[in-house]
Amino acid sequence: MTGPILPGATLGVLGGGQLGRMFAAAARRLGYRVAVWSDAPDAPALAAADLATNAPYDDAAAFEAFTGAIDVCTVEFENLPADLLRAIEGRVPLRPSSQAIAATQHRGREKRALAELGAPLAPWRPLAAAGTPHAAAAALEAATAATGRPAVLKTAGFGYDGKGQVTIPATGRWPGAALALLAAEPCVLEAFVDLELELSVVVARAPGGETRAFPVAENHHARHVLDLTVMPGRVAVDVAERAEALARRVVTGLGVVGLACVELFLTRAGDLWVNEVAPRPHNSGHVTIEACRVDQFEQQVRAVCGLPLGDPAAVRPGAMANLLGDLWDGGEPDWAAALAVGGARLHLYGKAQARPGRKMGHLSAVADDADAAAALVLRARAALARGGEGPAGAAGATPNPDPRA
Ligand SMILES: Nc1ncnc2c1ncn2[C@@H]1O[C@H](COP(=O)(O)OP(=O)(O)O)[C@@H](O)[C@H]1O
Ligand SMILES: [Mg+2]
Repeated sequence: MTGPILPGATLGVLGGGQLGRMFAAAARRLGYRVAVWSDAPDAPALAAADLATNAPYDDAAAFEAFTGAIDVCTVEFENLPADLLRAIEGRVPLRPSSQAIAATQHRGREKRALAELGAPLAPWRPLAAAGTPHAAAAALEAATAATGRPAVLKTAGFGYDGKGQVTIPATGRWPGAALALLAAEPCVLEAFVDLELELSVVVARAPGGETRAFPVAENHHARHVLDLTVMPGRVAVDVAERAEALARRVVTGLGVVGLACVELFLTRAGDLWVNEVAPRPHNSGHVTIEACRVDQFEQQVRAVCGLPLGDPAAVRPGAMANLLGDLWDGGEPDWAAALAVGGARLHLYGKAQARPGRKMGHLSAVADDADAAAALVLRARAALARGGEGPAGAAGATPNPDPRA
C-alpha cells in the first residue's frame, strides 16, 4: 500500500450538497485543497471549494480537468452514475470504491448484500417494475403475503428523505400512489417495522481495514425525514454495543474505505435491523462537530487520505435539530433569537431557495446530559419561528406550545 495522502494534496468530492461543503471545510482546515464536482448550479459545496466544477456528470472536459487536479476522490452523495465512478477509479483512488458505492445505490442490491453478510433485516421482497397498475396490484398481493401489512413500498433507486416511499396500510385497498410507483419503477416492499427507536452509527474505515465507530446516535424522524438526533443515544449499554458491532460488520463486509453510516431500526421486541447504509457522512453525524473528539468530516478526510483515524468518542452529550425549508413559511427565520439561546450553534448550508422539506441547516448543542442538549436545540429552533409571528410572538409571550413546530 502506498503512503498517506498528506496536507497540500487536492481531495476530490463528487456531489455538491451540505455534506460536501462540511467535508471541504474540514479538509481545508487540515491544509488540503478541495475540488468539488456537482451537476447542480448553486450547490452548497461549490462555494466552499478551492476548485469548483459545475457540469453534467458525463462531461468529458470536466472529467479531465477534475481528475487531473486531484490526488484522491470521495463522495458526499451515492446516487452518482456508475460509469463516472468507474472512470474516476481508473485515474485516482476512489474511496469508497465504485463497488462499495454501487451496493448502496439500489435498495434491492443493498438488501441482498446485507443479507449475504448475515445482517438482520425487516422482511422484504424485491419487485420489478410492474408496467400497469393492475399488474402492480397483483405483485403487491403476492409480496405482502411475505412481508405482512402494514408495509412500506420504496423505489429501488434514487430515494432520499422519504421520497419515493408509500405506506401500505394494514387493511383496505392498495393506495393509488403505490400502484403508480410500482407500475413505473422497480421497488422493494418492506414490512412496516414496529419501532422502539431509530439508531445510526457512523463508522470510518481506513485503507488498511481499521475501523472506528462514532457513538450510536438516536434519531427521531418527522414525515420520514430526520428531525432530531441525540448522541450518544439514550439506549441500554448492550443495545449500543450491539449496534456498534453490527455497523462495523456491515461497513467492513461492504468493503467501504472512507466513511459510512448504518441506519438501524430498534424494534419493540429489542431486535436491531439494518435499514440502509450511506457510504458517506450522514445527517445524524453532524452533532459530532460539537460532541466528539473528532468530527465525521475530519474523520472522512483522515480515512480517505490514509491518515491515522481520530478518536470518535463523545466529549459531551450532544443534540442536533434539522432546519427544513418549511421554517421559511412565515419569512426569514429569526436567527438572532436562536443564537440568543446560550450554547446553541447554528449551521446554515448557503442554499438560496427554501423549499418545504429541503434541508437548509441545523442547530446543535452539547450539555451535561442528552436530555438537556435535546431541550436546548429544540428551544433554539422554537425561537426561530417566534419572530415571524409578529407582536404576539415577541419576547415575554407564551412560548410556542410545540417546540418541534
Ligand atoms: N419499514 C419501515 N418501517 C417503519 N418506518 C420506516 C420503514 N422504512 C422507512 N421508515 C421511516 O422512513 C424513514 C426514511 O426511510 P429510509 O428507508 O431510511 O429512506 P431514505 O433514503 O429516505 O432515508 C426511516 O428513517 C423511518 O423513519
Ligand atoms: Mg434513511
